[in-house]
Amino acid sequence: MATLQKGLPPGPKGKGISGNLAEIGPRRVDFFLNLAQTYGPVASFRAGWWRLYLISDPDLIQQVLVTDARFYRKHFGARNFKPLLGNGLVTSEGDFWLAQRRLLQPAFLKAKILSYAPVMTEFAEAMLTEWKPGQSVDISLEFSALTSAIALKTLFGLDEHVDRKEIDASLRTAVELLGNRLDMPMQFPIWLPTPANIRLNRALRELFRLVDGFIAAKEAAPLGNDLLSTMIAAQHEDGTRMSMQQLRDEAMTLYLAGHETTALSLTWSWYLLSQNPGVEKTLTEEWRRVLGGRAAEADDIAALPYTAAVINEAMRLYPPVYVIGREATSDLELGGYRVKKGYTILMSQWVSHRDPKYFPEPERFLPERWLDGLATRLPKFAYYPFGGGQRLCIGVHFALMEAIILLATVGQKYRFTLDPDAVIDVMPQITMPPKYGMPATLERR
Ligand code: HEM
Repeated sequence: MATLQKGLPPGPKGKGISGNLAEIGPRRVDFFLNLAQTYGPVASFRAGWWRLYLISDPDLIQQVLVTDARFYRKHFGARNFKPLLGNGLVTSEGDFWLAQRRLLQPAFLKAKILSYAPVMTEFAEAMLTEWKPGQSVDISLEFSALTSAIALKTLFGLDEHVDRKEIDASLRTAVELLGNRLDMPMQFPIWLPTPANIRLNRALRELFRLVDGFIAAKEAAPLGNDLLSTMIAAQHEDGTRMSMQQLRDEAMTLYLAGHETTALSLTWSWYLLSQNPGVEKTLTEEWRRVLGGRAAEADDIAALPYTAAVINEAMRLYPPVYVIGREATSDLELGGYRVKKGYTILMSQWVSHRDPKYFPEPERFLPERWLDGLATRLPKFAYYPFGGGQRLCIGVHFALMEAIILLATVGQKYRFTLDPDAVIDVMPQITMPPKYGMPATLERR
């Protein structure tokens, strides 16, 4: 073990009960980047009660997510979403999590995921038939609607008749109100009837009613090829099945984790393309050569390396999940510092992905950097849009295939001209949508 430093890692002094909350502010990615650049690879600060370290050295991140993973659990930021996600895969821990992960893993293997590709292509084409040249759209809403419809179909076997708008409206309210709780120095329990809690509980009730409804409908009908059918039929090693409550938690988790993230990787890709016409030209040349105007399918993916590089590079600069956290469950050592039980360790993709040591000219959008095997030369945790270790995103193959198919299928038919007076900024919440949306005009390619 390295010699332990006395005291806390360097960082800004906090004030009173709120610590550094005021400095963190709504654009918390700036705070994180500034912290790492000013104080180095292990920095410390305080948010309300919570003592946090921000680590940005790939080896230290590996220590937390892999080597010492058994001494950590998800941090308060993840646990905060338990009222919505219950004991689903993102928020559960220990043996319970492991049994669920084993149960769900087969549905996310590459071979199984390939069977979802035709749905992705078909739904992208359906969206294109509805678009008209000259139409004004919000790119982020269009892609969120598309990935939402694809998730409902592939994960739950649900078609258009589902009231997606109703689900999404309640989900947005719940995510926003739960997210707001993280900015408060003291959190009231959610059963206290404050105005925000009343709205939150109403949204949760509505959401659970809708989700329970489609699970019940599924149980009553012959099971299909979708993930929910697999979950209903699946048995643990001891022969037990998932309870109604657990089915709901996993369904909510997969829907939330599985569509907004991919939509954001596409939204930020379009934004970056709109700012980099040279990249867009190379990209459309690849599509012309490989696809010649037809929609992309699973078999095309290996022949679209530049498309994959554009998505990798967009997720480097605008990682849909920009921070992950763990809480120590015992006293530990990290980077020469003591980590006491209860301390939180944050790892921010926004920060790590901008390290000039691994990404020269880090603010530039350069998909070419991925083309000569960069991914194999980087330390494992220099680039980790999907996290890593045992809690690696279960949907990584699903997401990458979906992003490539949708980018190529849509991008061959339309380009987006951003509104000249659009203000584009990030809004870091649980994921990182554009703060004011992404208004654009559709132009036929
Ligand atoms: C571009 C798209 C996506 C990104 C950037 C992303 C990112 C992540 C990250 C960073 C984690 C790890 C969180 C942590 O360690 O605390 C994670 C976990 C997870 N993701 Fe994704 N994700 C994406 C798409 C998906 C999709 C498509 C699904 C499902 C269909 C999904 C389902 C999950 C689940 C269930 C977990 C929890 C896994 C576990 O702890 O066992 N994600 N994701």
